[in-house]
Amino acid sequence: MRVVAPGRVNLIGDHVDYVGGVVLPMAVQLGTEIVVEPAPGDLRLSSADVEDESGWQRFVAATVREVAATGEAHGGTGRVSSTLPIGAGMSSSSSLTVAVALAAGFTGSPLELARLAQRAEIAATGVPCGLMDQLAITHGVDGHALRIDCRVDEVSPVPLPSGVAVHAIHSGVARRLEGSPYADRRRSCEAAEAEIGPLRDASLHAVDRIGDATIRSRARHVVSEIARVDAAVAAARADDAVTFGELMNASHVSLRDDFEVSIPELDDLVGRLQATPGVLGARLTGAGFGGCAVVLADAEADLSDFGGWSLRPSAAAAVQT
Ligand code: GLA
Repeated sequence: MRVVAPGRVNLIGDHVDYVGGVVLPMAVQLGTEIVVEPAPGDLRLSSADVEDESGWQRFVAATVREVAATGEAHGGTGRVSSTLPIGAGMSSSSSLTVAVALAAGFTGSPLELARLAQRAEIAATGVPCGLMDQLAITHGVDGHALRIDCRVDEVSPVPLPSGVAVHAIHSGVARRLEGSPYADRRRSCEAAEAEIGPLRDASLHAVDRIGDATIRSRARHVVSEIARVDAAVAAARADDAVTFGELMNASHVSLRDDFEVSIPELDDLVGRLQATPGVLGARLTGAGFGGCAVVLADAEADLSDFGGWSLRPSAAAAVQT
């Protein structure tokens, strides 16, 4: 059997999934492939192109344990290959966990698959990640971004504006969520919610009432980012790529100044991208602390000097044979 699972890039809406916000990622054509010969017993996977130092076996083991807990797991021998850069913020680990779950015989719904992969990822890393990445990977739709309402885990396809291309450009700094302030940022959001209630429903006015300046900044990012996602979805539906790009630029400023998850290398890269002809918007994507910038550009724009990847919105993870 052959399993494929895409990676994802988040166009806009970072650090809002775990407070039940709205996000707009897309599954991408880069991803994980597993070819496995099912058999009783253990699942044995090897890989020629995923390096051992990335600790990928931990993700495999945690996923197999989760599938076994559903009573569905089968074993076998297989090979894993990946076209996703590791530590780039394109969800190589979530792509792997989703692919392994399918290769191990999981047959639940896409939502159940996403939740299982999230449990495996949290077990493997200890990082309390949200569900955005796994939902994007299990619900991808060719040619579409995905509006995900993380309060109810509902996914709606949104066509990209016409005449644009999406690129991911690496900052050169590998990102690891373990040991990063990710959990700290989550706690700050919880502290804000203890004071003013769910951030999904909060106004910027309410945010101003938060006593602690740091918590107030974190909350200001979340509340303003959710509004930007709503505006970006409206812009995409109106085929307004210029407004969409401006919202991406504003998102970067908010992640840099209010949520403080950028690093100088990403700020520098985003600045150079925004100054490049044909670029409509650029921002850090995913958790931050390194990894890639995501860029919306005119389809003809030449970003070859930056290296990177031209990304196509792609279909969801699937068993192909
Ligand atoms: C990581 C997590 C996601 C999300 C992003 C930030 O990718 O896995 O759940 O929180 O960071 O938007």
